[in-house]
Amino acid sequence: MTAELSPMDKAKYAAARRSVDFVEDGMKLGLGTGSTAAWMVRCLAERVKTEGLKLTCVATSRRTAELATGLGIRVVPMDDVKWLDLTIDGADEFDPHLNLIKGGGAALLQEKIVATASDRMIVIADAAKEVAQLGAFPLPVEVIPFGWQTTKALIEETLYSLDVLNREVSLRLDRDKPLKTDEGHYILDLNLKRIGNPRQLALVLNQIPGVVENGLFIDICDIVVIGNGDGRVTVRDINSGMVEDVAIDVAQTVNIFADLGD
Ligand code: A5P
Repeated sequence: MTAELSPMDKAKYAAARRSVDFVEDGMKLGLGTGSTAAWMVRCLAERVKTEGLKLTCVATSRRTAELATGLGIRVVPMDDVKWLDLTIDGADEFDPHLNLIKGGGAALLQEKIVATASDRMIVIADAAKEVAQLGAFPLPVEVIPFGWQTTKALIEETLYSLDVLNREVSLRLDRDKPLKTDEGHYILDLNLKRIGNPRQLALVLNQIPGVVENGLFIDICDIVVIGNGDGRVTVRDINSGMVEDVAIDVAQTVNIFADLGD
């Protein structure tokens, strides 16, 4: 089975495997969305099964909730817990300050609510997600369907006064229809190439009527766990300055999983 995994999947698995070491018995835990987070959910389920961990988890999307409950993890609605000890999630990009672009999987709204309501957020990512400056990955912005073209025009107009390199905005599609998020909203992807001031952009976007939330996560992430295809993992803690390098035995441990799909 290991031979079938691409180096990218091995990197995602290695980061996910290391991240679940931060989980302690009794925790209230936020479960992210995406292919890296799916590995994390599988690794977590393994710990729940073998160690009998008692966890209360909140999922950031319907698909994560389905995966987690299917693997025997207890998932409850966010309003049952209100605040969490820890959230572990993927990202589309992270910069040296651990500011993020998220939402490539269209789950940014629930992801941001859950991560913001957590004592700590750990991002798990393959090494290719690390950038000096955010913006190469198109920035997802969740908008209300009513008047979305007006919202799009207002975003385009606003971008002219901001420090970005490019200003293309496109509606995300699911085949030939607008993609709908779990909350029934649309996603506009902002192809900006370079975001000079992510903090300012995040604030300005959220002031536009019709915008529900944007995919910039500023000062939310505490720790990044970066995986490589050979199983090497680097853990960086932005608050303590701690950097740790470990090696995960990808070949041995990944064999515990039968289902490799996201
Ligand atoms: C989901 O909306 C996103 O924020 C994901 O966390 C992000 O796109 C990372 O996904 P992958 O782990 O699949 O790259």
